[in-house]
Amino acid sequence: MGNPPILVTGGAGFIGSNFVLRWLETESNPVVNLDKLTYAGNLGNLAAVNAHPRHSFVHGDIGDRKLLGDLFARHQPCAVVHFAAESHVDRSIHAPDDFVRTNVNGTFALLEEARTYWSEMDPERSQFRFLHVSTDEVYGSLGREDPPFRETSPYAPNSPYAASKASSDYLVRAYHHTYRLPTLTTNCSNNYGPYQFPEKLIPLTILHALQGKTIPVYGDGQNVRDWLFVEDHCRAIRMVLARGRPGRTYNIGGRNQKRNLEVVEAICSILDELRPADPVVPHSGLIRLVEDRPGHDRRYAMDTSRIEQELGWGPQETFESGIRKTVTWYLANPAWVKEVTSGSYRQWIATQYSM
Ligand code: NAD
Ligand code: TYD
Repeated sequence: MGNPPILVTGGAGFIGSNFVLRWLETESNPVVNLDKLTYAGNLGNLAAVNAHPRHSFVHGDIGDRKLLGDLFARHQPCAVVHFAAESHVDRSIHAPDDFVRTNVNGTFALLEEARTYWSEMDPERSQFRFLHVSTDEVYGSLGREDPPFRETSPYAPNSPYAASKASSDYLVRAYHHTYRLPTLTTNCSNNYGPYQFPEKLIPLTILHALQGKTIPVYGDGQNVRDWLFVEDHCRAIRMVLARGRPGRTYNIGGRNQKRNLEVVEAICSILDELRPADPVVPHSGLIRLVEDRPGHDRRYAMDTSRIEQELGWGPQETFESGIRKTVTWYLANPAWVKEVTSGSYRQWIATQYSM
């Protein structure tokens, strides 16, 4: 028998697709990739592994217990890596329903089907892992002088998104504590890099700057996020999956705290250099302070000592190198940008999958 596969959920989204692409290069286990293809999921992200012999894509919802049961029975995965979620804070403020449906109920469905499968596994039961990908936003907001979040920091989620992720973290914790399901939870700071849907700050800034549109910065632009290049996050997940201690949580972050205005200004100055003939140069002339996000968390920062000391992980990209790679990627991939922003991709998907 060959290597058992891993079951990845949300592997057509931003982080999930980066994870799947790199996994297939570095690891030998096949990937079964379950994704609902919401507005944020895009098979174009996976074009390079479309015909890969160790990648199979399944279009479906993590809330579909029957589908999950069939997938576990048919593929007998040795691990679940759970990315699938509604992920955008602003959307969660305006339409929280899907956040509870997918992030809470969907994670519950996945845990239940994983537990049923795992409890009947023999003899590899102790090797099975359920890795839940979560966020630093579950810890709430830091003041300017507060030390970064540790794994022991109290949960204090503020947005519907953060509350839905915190709920799912608690369910994962309970499945380990109650049933001894071998779970791992990673709480990561803000990611950026290739394939990020242009509703999030960094790709939105790049695309607006290129198109000569205003770049909206919420409030006073002084909110702080701890930015991590997506490939560093994916490597951390691979390390936690391979060597993390079941039942434990691991904070992941870039040790890269930046104010939002610093981030957009950094992007603008790279674009000034790479695109001197754009409609508005310097690109920073497009930056506008706009009305603040309701309940906007002031600052996130992660203490990553645990994953550094236990597993030897650390980020390989600095913010300067990672942001340059990211801007360059968006400039080099106008067709991807057009597809995800035009709606033609979604129409094509509808014809493929009768959504
Ligand atoms: P994303 O929105 O880009 O992708 C989410 C993916 O999940 C999409 O492909 C979507 O189609 C899929 N999906 C949504 N609902 C589904 C459902 N019901 N069933 C199956 N698939 C479904 O998100 P992302 O930024 O790649 O985030 C991935 C995970 O990482 C999320 O759990 C998120 O909470 C977490 N996270 C993200 C960040 C970040 O900065 N983006 C930071 C820390 C943690
Ligand atoms: P975002 O990328 O939405 O991630 P999150 O809310 O999960 O941290 O936002 C990052 C920061 O940028 C956050 O402080 C909100 C801010 N922001 C803006 O100022 N303007 C924007 O258009 C967006 C999308 C975000």
